[in-house]
Amino acid sequence: MKTLIIGGAGFIGSHLCDSLINQGHKVGCADNFSIGTKENIEHLFENKNFKLYEIDAADRKKLRDLFQDFIPDYVFHLAANSDIQASAVNPDVEYRNTYTTTFEILSAMREYGVKKLFFASTSAVYGDKCNIELDENTPGLAPISYYGAAKLGCEGLISAFSYMNDIQSLVFRFPNVIGPRLTHGVIYDFIGRLNKDPEHLRILGNGKQTKPYIYVLDLVKAILQFMETGNRGVTLYNVGVEGDTTVTRIADMICEEMGLKNVIYEYTGGEGGWKGDVPRFRYCLDKIHQAGWRAEYSSDVAVRKTVQEVLKGKRD
Ligand SMILES: NC(=O)c1ccc[n+]([C@@H]2O[C@H](COP(=O)([O-])OP(=O)(O)OC[C@H]3O[C@@H](n4cnc5c(N)ncnc54)[C@H](O)[C@@H]3O)[C@@H](O)[C@H]2O)c1
Repeated sequence: MKTLIIGGAGFIGSHLCDSLINQGHKVGCADNFSIGTKENIEHLFENKNFKLYEIDAADRKKLRDLFQDFIPDYVFHLAANSDIQASAVNPDVEYRNTYTTTFEILSAMREYGVKKLFFASTSAVYGDKCNIELDENTPGLAPISYYGAAKLGCEGLISAFSYMNDIQSLVFRFPNVIGPRLTHGVIYDFIGRLNKDPEHLRILGNGKQTKPYIYVLDLVKAILQFMETGNRGVTLYNVGVEGDTTVTRIADMICEEMGLKNVIYEYTGGEGGWKGDVPRFRYCLDKIHQAGWRAEYSSDVAVRKTVQEVLKGKRD
C-alpha cells in the first residue's frame, strides 16, 4: 500500500515510518521539520520504499504538488504543534500546524479521492475532567488548551469530510506517549535539566499530576492493528495503558536510573504544570480492549523503560 505519513519525521511518526516500511508498504514521509528531525528518519533514506517530502502541510500548493507526485492509498496525519507550552505563548502556531494542516490534508484527500485516514488526537480534547473516567462518549468536551481546542476542531473537520466524501477515518485519542526519539515532555525535560544540574530539579506544579504514559511501540502496534477499520465514517478509540504515574514518581525514577541521590526537588506549585495542563485524567479502555488490543507495558513500566533507553541513547 502507498502510505503517506504527515509529521513523519517526528517522534511517533518516525516509528510509524519504520513499522510500515517493515511491513512492506511504500512510505511517503512529509514534514516541515519544525519539531521533527532528519536524524529520526535518516536510516530510511536509502530504502527504495521510502521517500521524503520536506513541506509545510498547511501550504495548499505544496501539499497538492506532493499528492500529484505520490497519490497515497492511506494518509496518516500526525503533523501538529505537539508542544502545548509553545502554543500557550503563541496560539497562531496551533492554528497553523494543528488545525490548518488538517483542513488542507482533508481537502487534498477529497480532491484526489483518497479514502483512508488515520488521525492522532489527544486526551486534551476532554479538558479538565479529573473526577470521571473518560470514554469515547463522554459528553461536554471542553478543552482548556489551544492545543486541545485545535485537535477537537480537527475531529469536527474529519467527521464532516469523512461523511461528505465517504472517507474511512480512524481517530485515536492518545494519552502521553513516550519512548526513544522523544522530542518533548516531562521525561525529556527532566533528563535535560538533571544533566545540567544534578543537584536540583525544577518541577512544574506540585508533582502530583497523574497521567497514563503509553510506550510508543505499543501505540504503533495499535495503529497498525486498526488501520483497516473497514467502516465508513469515523471510528474513534481512546488508546491507553494500565495505571498512571505521578510527575514526582517520574523524577524519582530518572534520579534512580541516573544514579543521583539527594536531588532537591523545587516545585513551582499549583495543581497543573502550566496554564492549560490537565493535572490528572483516567481513561476507560473498554472499547479498544473489547476490539482486541491491549498495551504490553503499564504506565510505570513504560516510564522506566523510556528513561533507561533515553539515557542509553537508544533510538530505535
Ligand atoms: N507525544 C504525545 O504524547 C502525544 C499525545 C497525544 C497526541 N499526540 C499527537 O501525535 C502526533 C505526533 O506527536 P509527536 O509526539 O510525535 O510530536 P512531534 O512534534 O515529534 O511530531 C509532529 C511532527 O509534525 C511536524 N509538523 C508540525 N507542523 C507541521 C506542518 N505544518 N507541516 C509539516 N509537518 C509539520 C513536526 O515537525 C513533527 O515532526 C501529533 O499530532 C500530536 O499532537 C502526541
